[in-house]
This record gives sequence, C-alpha cells and structure tokens, in this order.
Amino acid sequence: MLNLSVLTDPGFCPHSLNKYASIMAGGNGYMGVRATHEEDYTRQTRGMYLAGLYHRAGCNETNELVNLPDVVGIDIELDGENFTLLAGEILSWQRELAFANGELRRSVLWRSPGGKRYRLESRRFVSLDQLPLVAMQLSITPVDDASQVVLKTGIDATQTNTGRQHLDEMSVRVFDQHYLQGGYETQDHAAEVVMSAYCRLSTESDSFFTAKNRRITAHQAFSIPQGDTVTLEKLVWVAHRRDKALSQEAFARNALAELKVCAVKGYAALLKSSADAWGKIWRDGRVEVASTEPQDQIALDYAVWHLTAMTPAHDERSSIGAKGLTGEGYKGHVFWDTEIFLLPFHLFTRPQIARSLLRYRWLNLPGAREKARRNGWPGALFPWESAASGQEETPEFAAINIRTGTRQKVASALAEHHIVADIAWAVVAYWQATHDDDFMRNEGLKLLMETATFWMGRATEVNGRLEIHNVIGPDEYTEHVNNNAYTNYLAWHNVASACQFMARFKREERRFTENASRFLERLWLPEADADGVIPQDDSFLAKPVIDLSRYKAQAGKQTILLDYSRAEVNEMQILKQADVVMLNYLLPERFTPQQCAANLAFYEPRTIHDSSLSKAIHGIVTARCGDTEGAYAFWRDGIAIDLGDDPHSSDDGIHAAATGAIWSAVIQGFAGLQIVEGELHLAPRIPAHWQKLTFPLRWRNARMHFTFENAVLTIETSAPVTLTLWGKTLMTSGRQVWSQKDFITPDAGTATTEGSHDA
Ligand code: BGC
Repeated sequence: MLNLSVLTDPGFCPHSLNKYASIMAGGNGYMGVRATHEEDYTRQTRGMYLAGLYHRAGCNETNELVNLPDVVGIDIELDGENFTLLAGEILSWQRELAFANGELRRSVLWRSPGGKRYRLESRRFVSLDQLPLVAMQLSITPVDDASQVVLKTGIDATQTNTGRQHLDEMSVRVFDQHYLQGGYETQDHAAEVVMSAYCRLSTESDSFFTAKNRRITAHQAFSIPQGDTVTLEKLVWVAHRRDKALSQEAFARNALAELKVCAVKGYAALLKSSADAWGKIWRDGRVEVASTEPQDQIALDYAVWHLTAMTPAHDERSSIGAKGLTGEGYKGHVFWDTEIFLLPFHLFTRPQIARSLLRYRWLNLPGAREKARRNGWPGALFPWESAASGQEETPEFAAINIRTGTRQKVASALAEHHIVADIAWAVVAYWQATHDDDFMRNEGLKLLMETATFWMGRATEVNGRLEIHNVIGPDEYTEHVNNNAYTNYLAWHNVASACQFMARFKREERRFTENASRFLERLWLPEADADGVIPQDDSFLAKPVIDLSRYKAQAGKQTILLDYSRAEVNEMQILKQADVVMLNYLLPERFTPQQCAANLAFYEPRTIHDSSLSKAIHGIVTARCGDTEGAYAFWRDGIAIDLGDDPHSSDDGIHAAATGAIWSAVIQGFAGLQIVEGELHLAPRIPAHWQKLTFPLRWRNARMHFTFENAVLTIETSAPVTLTLWGKTLMTSGRQVWSQKDFITPDAGTATTEGSHDA
C-alpha cells in the first residue's frame, strides 16, 4: 500500500483563496475543477474547464479555454444566517487534498455571528474512471441546538472568463425530484455541453426548483436536530461534444441516463472506483523519496497528481495548456512547455500518452504549414501558442500603455520559432524510449520532415555559411537576435534526425536529402570559447552586464520591467530563463561536462529566473555536473513556485511546466537519466537530505523499478535492458543490485562490473 501524502490548506485566508483553488484543483484530463469553496467570496474565482473546449468571445479577443457553468457553489443558510468564513468565528479548520483517492476534504467548526456552532464537512472529487463525473457531499451538524437550514445549489451559467461569456443557454430542465439539466452551446455553435446534476438530501425537505437569469437551482429547506448530521449529495455529469451526430434531445437524454446510473451507485462507490484508477497512476508513476524535508514527497505527489489531471489522455485532438486545467492563465493555450517539460513524465511512465500528445501536433500540421506559408517559408512552423485548431493563437498585443493607448506587440508568435525544433526533439525522444516504428514511420517522420523543411527554408546564407536570423530563443528577454545557439543547435538536430529516420525507413527524396546535407554542413553552430562558454547569440556577449541581485531575489515577478523597458532589457546581458543551459540539458551528448559547467557559471548570474521554466533546468544541469547540493537548492526553489508561501503566484492556475520539471529534475537530475546516442543512461546521486529514492520507469518493452539507497541501486525489470550506469554499459534483468562504489573507476566503457542477481 503506497503511503501517499496529502496537500493541506493551512487555514482559511481570503488572500490565498485562489492559490489553493489552483493547486488543490481536481481533474482527470477531460476536465478540471478549481478547488473553490462551496460558499461565495468576492475574490474567489470559480473555474471548471474541459480539455480542448476553446472559444473566442468577440473581436480583439483570442480563443480561450471556456469557463463552464459552476456546479460547486452552494448557498448555505443556517438558522437565517449566511454561512461565510468572513463572519463569525472559525473554531477548527482542516482542508486537504488526499492524493491517494483524489478527494478534496474540508472540515470546519464554525460559530455564527449569532453564537451557534455548526460543523460543516465537504468532500469532492473529479472521477478518474468516469471522465464526465464530478461528485460532492456537504454535511452539516448543528452542535448547540436544532437548526433550520436552507441550501441552494444547481448549475450557474452566469460564470464567465473574467467577464467574457462564451456559452449560450439552450435549454434548462428538471426531472423528478432530484435532477437538473442545462444545455449550452458555444456562441459559434461549434461545441455543445450538457450539464446534468443530481442533488439528494439525507433527510426530508421542502424543496422546489427555479430557473432564472442563467441559473437553474434546487432550493431545499429542512431542519436538523441538535447533534444530527444531514448530508447533501451532488453528482454532476458534464457531457461535451463537437460533432452533432445525435439530436440535442438524444444527447441530453443519454447524459441524464449516465448520471442516473451514478446516482444509484452513490458517492462512496463512485469514489472507490475513481480511487482504484488513481492507484494505477501511482503504481506507474510515483516517485518516492525518504527525505528529512516532508515537503519533498508532497511536491513529487503533487507533480504526478497534476500531470495526470492536466493531460487529456483520452483525446489526441487536445493537448495541455500552460496552466493545465486549473485556471485561465495563458488562456489555456499550449506552448513548447508540453513537449519539453510535460511529455518526458508521460514518455517514461505511460508512453501511449506521449504518443497522443505528439499526434496532437501531427493532426495540427495544416495550421503549422499555413503559418509557414503565410510568412514565406516552406514546411511547418508550429504556432507559438495553440488551442484546438492548430492555428496561431498568441494574442497580437500584450499590455496596453493606458496613457498613450498604444499596445505592445507580442513578439513570440513572430520569432520564437524554436518550438518547431522542440517538437522534433520530442518526436525523437519518443522513438528512442519506445522504438515505436509504426508511429515513427508515419506521423513521426512526417513531423520530422516538415519541421526540417522549415529550417532549411528559414536559414539565410551569409558568406557561404547558413545562419538563422531574427529569432527569440527560450530567453524571452532577448528578442530578435541572430544565431541563437539554442535555436541553431536544435534546428541542426531536427534536420539531422529527419535524415536519420528517412534512412532508417528507406524513404528516398533526393532533393530533401541534398538540401539537408548542405544545411547540416553549413549551418553555423555557435562555438564555445576556450572556457567552454557558448555565446547565446551573435550580439549577446557585447552587451553590458548589470547587477541583477535585486531582481533575482524577486524571481518570477518580472520586477526588472518596472525599472527598464523591454527594449532596454534587450540591450543588456539579462536572461529571463535558461537558454544556453536549456540547450546543454536537451542535447547532453553534444557538450562536455566542462562546457556545461562553464555555461552554468557564466549564464546563471545573468538569469533572473522570471520564468517558471528556468530553475529546474538549471537544477538538472547542475546535478549532471556533479553538484548535487546545488541542484537540490534549485529543485527546492522550483517546487516553491506553486507550493511556496507567495499567496498569489498561482492565482490563475498552476505552473504546468514547473510541475513537470519537479518530476524531470529528480529523474533526469538526481537519478541522472539521459538518453545518449539513443541509449538509456543513469547515474543516481541524491542530495544529503534524502536517504532513499525509488521510481518506476518504462523503457521500450520493459517495466522497470529503481531503488537507490546507501549508494546501492536495485533495479527490477520485466525484461532485460541494456543501460549505462555511472558510465558503464551493462545488461540488467530480473532483480539486480548494483553498488555505486564498483563504478567509480576512471575508464568509462563496457562494464566489467557484475551486479548481484537476486532470485
Ligand atoms: C515563458 C515561456 C513559456 C510560457 C508559458 C513564458 O513566461 O517565457 O517559455 O512557454 O511562459 O509557460
């Protein structure tokens, strides 16, 4: 039995309502539900989102993840007083998200302003085995006296995305004494959502329904004897469709029928089957550490929780937004975050999901081709931000100067082209870890060739060599530069990989091959200086350096932009996030450890880490350079992005990429996992705070399990695997135990080391 952690909300605080609503959000990849309280608070942002359900609310707007009608809210009236924690007194409080079964629980003992005490307990989960299902319970116990209670709850379609309304209400119905249903359609008529709710009290009540102003509500009035408990059970079925094969009536009828089956099973049985589904997730993906810092395990469970909750494993037409399904930040758009920060977890735990995420890009090739064509380039230029259609979704303008009325253009869609090569990098990593030739022969090769074609057209010839001009690398504080090292090296890798897989699958296209050879021979790859430092781009090293300590102390808040304009920042050696260090991370075999260390030493002091995508990557490269404690410091800073004390850092959703990086930094940093020349390498070294690290891993046809403790690595594998451990290549099978001290020899090569085989 796994001893899973719980995430707690330490106390009711009106300032951190939205932080906890994001980090404790539930989800199943189909939908996400913010962990808001049942009762309303002015500053609390409710949110419920369906993966892939985007809509544009009007001109000057962008497609965004639609905030659905709310079902979590319940108006609670206790003996004539509205239940709110802003009044009265909180006598006891407990709120937690239990990772083991996925249940969000709150228990409050509250004294009303009138002086009576009540215990309120609520529970909620988003089902992992029945994707359209959300289930909740609210229990009320009057402690001092018999009580009169009124509850009002239902489906509230006044919900908006910060004022933008996406849905038209098409129908509202009630059935029997317990069922409510609302039918909604996006205003462009492209998608339909039917929300059905079942509300049942554990006692008799006076009840009636109303439907008014986009709210359909069940009103229930009842009394509770002192010390007794009455429970409201509410089950919600959220059906979504983009096709109109069925009539609206039949679609709604089916949804209601599904809900009725759930109602017969009841909350406890539904929770049990969802918890069983979570059990499989933990078995396949849980990383365990024995650490002196309890938060380390919580962070790892948190990461697997959200990586599961945010990923539409059921639907390859959707991918993962930068805030997962936990909030409206970045409008729910999909960035390079998915391939580089989120895909690795899936690749090494449930590779089918990595495949599905790549198929999303493959399905969206038409949009990428169109974007390339519009800009005068061949091949596929994937959008910097995408949603359902694969078109570019990056808003044209960012902040407005309200004095002048002028708006600032967002440059990423114009020049942050590395996303093309990032997708190609992920395609190659997918094949290396799975050897899935079926995928590679078809979708994979298509993606590699079209992206490679883009780079071949994108490069410019300068004095006989090819250069890539006017790009933005991962560091978004340095715009419109020539020969960003990250971009050039990854573009080279992209084209080289296309050639390699064309050869493997005997795909002959003479013109492509000739162009590719010319590109690979002549593309300029910025060279390391004598110390090993690679210039970030052609102009970076000539720019002035300033002291960034003030801004680094406020990492993530972009405070530098309060003192300098973007244009000024652009003209100094200031990085928002890992750039050359990111390159060292992604293509480890191209750089020596000494070069990686030199780039860390040079670029880290120049990096503010204003992006949540930065620290963990520094951590991984630091770990690979042998500084485990330095890496641990970066990792702890990385987990604090969502789990730290800042009450507002995650208001509009968790940082999905940083969440993926919590997992990556442990497996690719401390466990030392790298794919080098297509093969698996591991070199565990764990921080002093940890006594033990265990994790499962999928590699090709093997299910593996690693335990590292007291410098001894135990590997269990379902099939023999060749891997390189601490620099020595060996074959492991069954259950074998390897002692780290046997590997510390100056010559790294084929192993002479024998692992001991356990029966
Ligand atoms: C980062 C990008 C990232 C985006 C979405 C930006 O702040 O600079 O690298 O893709 O956030 O997470």
